[in-house]
Amino acid sequence: MPKIAVIPGDGVGVEVIAEAVKVLKEVDRLDHLGLELVRFDFGAERYLKTGEAMPPGQIDEFRNHYDAILLGALGDPRIPDMAHGRAILLACRFELDLYINMRPVKLIHEKLCPIKNKGPEQVNFVVFRENTEGPYVGAGGFLKKNTPDEVAVQQSIHTRKGVERIIRAAFEYARKHGLPKVTMADKSNVLRYGHDLWQRTFREVGEAFPEIEKEHYYVDALVMEMVRQPEKFHVIVTENMLGDIITDLGAMLQGGMGMAASGNIHPGKVSLFEPVHGSAPPIAGKNIANPLAAILSAAMMLEHLGLHTSAQRIERAVVQAVMQDVVTEDLGGRYGTREVGDFVASHL
Ligand code: IPM
Ligand code: MN
Repeated sequence: MPKIAVIPGDGVGVEVIAEAVKVLKEVDRLDHLGLELVRFDFGAERYLKTGEAMPPGQIDEFRNHYDAILLGALGDPRIPDMAHGRAILLACRFELDLYINMRPVKLIHEKLCPIKNKGPEQVNFVVFRENTEGPYVGAGGFLKKNTPDEVAVQQSIHTRKGVERIIRAAFEYARKHGLPKVTMADKSNVLRYGHDLWQRTFREVGEAFPEIEKEHYYVDALVMEMVRQPEKFHVIVTENMLGDIITDLGAMLQGGMGMAASGNIHPGKVSLFEPVHGSAPPIAGKNIANPLAAILSAAMMLEHLGLHTSAQRIERAVVQAVMQDVVTEDLGGRYGTREVGDFVASHL
């Protein structure tokens, strides 16, 4: 009986999660999964009202009593520094040690791709973004803040263990899925310490995977190739911030932010699934946000929980929605968020 924490969050997060939940409830009914969905009101509203993003001990509660977390989006113009977002999303990533940020870039139909002559055969890879280190650790400080002599230091942390485990996860995924190559992206021509560690670790870990081709790109060349020849890629592994950037480009290759799903994963432990997109305040509450990224994230969650057949049902229904143009405006459709969710739920 998988127990799932559902955090709709802010803006369109609330709307897209409503559709993901609709689909989950239907797949639960069809496949007798016994899903227990528990809703949490964490987000800007609660933070502004109570001053706290989550009650103390919440992360432990997730760790000890839940199988997965489904998150919508966080972000609100009233909280410009995203304090609550960091206190919820980054806290889960760090404290639950969700070291794999798995972001598939999978084009469903040629019509969704902004690059000409690229179809599902050409755009189909997975990014393994390191999710607990790099510049995201928040190490650094100010000197003489708010003076003309101000100095800001922002450190980027890379540990041998942290780099090794994400690279290993990428190779293991390639092996499990019979993929021929793992590509590592960094900026080791300039970042001679942190990314040198990535280089050496990639070579060493790769030795245990002799059947898999190893490839390296500097990140600037990688983004160029992602557009020029996306078919070259199968699995890309990279550090946290570079992964953040390249997965937004990856999202566009598959039809935009409304199509990009992700999993923040620690194998065998409670993991968090969320669409890559944000809360999109300007379009919130209008029934126009694309729910497919959230629905696909829910499918990833079921896959992670070992519910392969149910995950597949959802993915196939999403493919049907795209094929039949039952999609939102961002994909050139004329349907609303709820109508797309209804279609998917009724085609499982
Ligand atoms: C993402 C987002 C987050 C990140 C933000 C909201 C902190 O952009 O999940 O890609 O930078 O990781
Ligand atoms: Mn991002």
